[in-house]
Amino acid sequence: MTAAMRLLQPLNINGMVLPNRVVVPAMVTRLSGEDGLVQGDVVDRYVRYAAGRVGLIVVEATAVHGTKSGPLLRLSDDAFIPGHRELAQRVHETSDSKVVPQIIHFMKVARSGWRQTIEMLEIADIKGIIRDFGLAALRAREAGYDGVELHSAHAYTLSSFLSRRNRRRDRYGGHTLEGRLALFGEVFAEVRRRVGKDFPVGVRFLAEEAIKGGYALPEAQQIALRMAELGVDYISLSVGGKFEDAEHRPGQPLYPYTGYSGDRCMPGDWYPAQPHTHLASGIKGYLNERGHSTPVISVGKIAEPERAEALLRDGQADLIGMARQLLADPDWPLKVMQGRSNEIIRCVYCNVCKDLDERFKKVNCFLWPKGQIQAPDDRANGPSPCWPREGASLSGAGADGRIKLSWAPAHGRGAEIAGYDIYRADALGAVQCVEAVKGRRFVDRLALSGQQYRYFVRAFDRNGRTSPPSETVAITMAMADYGRD
Ligand SMILES: Cc1cc2nc3c(=O)[nH]c(=O)nc-3n(C[C@H](O)[C@H](O)[C@H](O)COP(=O)(O)O)c2cc1C
Repeated sequence: MTAAMRLLQPLNINGMVLPNRVVVPAMVTRLSGEDGLVQGDVVDRYVRYAAGRVGLIVVEATAVHGTKSGPLLRLSDDAFIPGHRELAQRVHETSDSKVVPQIIHFMKVARSGWRQTIEMLEIADIKGIIRDFGLAALRAREAGYDGVELHSAHAYTLSSFLSRRNRRRDRYGGHTLEGRLALFGEVFAEVRRRVGKDFPVGVRFLAEEAIKGGYALPEAQQIALRMAELGVDYISLSVGGKFEDAEHRPGQPLYPYTGYSGDRCMPGDWYPAQPHTHLASGIKGYLNERGHSTPVISVGKIAEPERAEALLRDGQADLIGMARQLLADPDWPLKVMQGRSNEIIRCVYCNVCKDLDERFKKVNCFLWPKGQIQAPDDRANGPSPCWPREGASLSGAGADGRIKLSWAPAHGRGAEIAGYDIYRADALGAVQCVEAVKGRRFVDRLALSGQQYRYFVRAFDRNGRTSPPSETVAITMAMADYGRD
């Protein structure tokens, strides 16, 4: 079964042969210093994905220009090339994963909440942006990357030009879709001129802006069509992440993932799985019907191998992007290849990683052992944790809208116990991993009275090895009494 999986089939993108269909989209790590240089921890983060056999690794947003913005990688000068060269080389030495940096231009933001907008840019500034993208892309090629990705999503410059809220009145806006597309077209042409036809150039843009007055799927389809016609080599989709609805936290620069569009960009645990696959499917279908086969990456709370496989099989996407799930467990592809999907450490979408990014702190995963800044090693052959002979003694009770569970400690055999995954199934039997906790208690606040829920727990150790499931408990809270008369 595994060998025949589409997920594990290679894909040739303009000469860049991905060994499989799994992509880690760009994710800021905050592991660099404010100098923007690649250093050891940054390299280790990406090598870890290569060790897990991720097909395409997109290196975090990397600035094409010199504007300050906390710890953020840069390709704004030749001095940054050696660090990137080492990163690309180490990834290539580790596995056949391919690696491209995501290059970004952003505008200024101030702690007062003020921000520069595209309407403030002069033509000379725009020319500078075009030049900077071209030079940064060329440096990516010189550094030995397999390609480059243009960040045209979220709250950043290229995306703001594509936006339906672009208020410029000149040829870079003018209330027309053509005007909104002009800067991207010129940037892409310049990048192509610099890197040549044989260097893969992908793009990330929004399938939906998710702000009031922002564009939605129909315009995204047309934007994608233009990008395909221009010859972009792949399209990676995202949603939201805009400044327009961001909440200003006093004394902090605006962070574009604090409003509703931010929720849509990094949907939290309360969102359903795969909330955005219809968008990728809508864009892929639109392109394919018009004769374009530009690969489309679907992203957003995709985590289950079988469901990811179904998206490929049903023609809803060409590649599967997973950001937080691969941060939690970079060995996801390896485990799928080895038929060990049940050992994947499940992301619980708690967004601790997002909070760390917002506060310019080193981005790690809540599920990793405390204090570690990289995912633990997968010791495939080490012994898994187990429960005591008498079992996990899982027990629980429900009252006042809360179901409280507790259980006995599991034994780590290869390594110390790091936490417990909580699984819940409703009456129809759909099992979901609802939470991961470090202690031995869990309170479910999202249960309905009158319904029966079954729970089981699995322990995981510092190496990411999981125990067998505990025994199951079935719990029903007494039906709420709304005081009928
Ligand atoms: C900590 C963090 C940093 C991110 N940084 C970037 C980035 O640099 N560029 C980008 O395009 N998206 C960025 N994203 C968005 C992700 O690439 C992805 O689109 C989003 O998390 C939804 O995918 P997921 O549900 O698989 O996590 C970031 C997300 C997180 C959680």
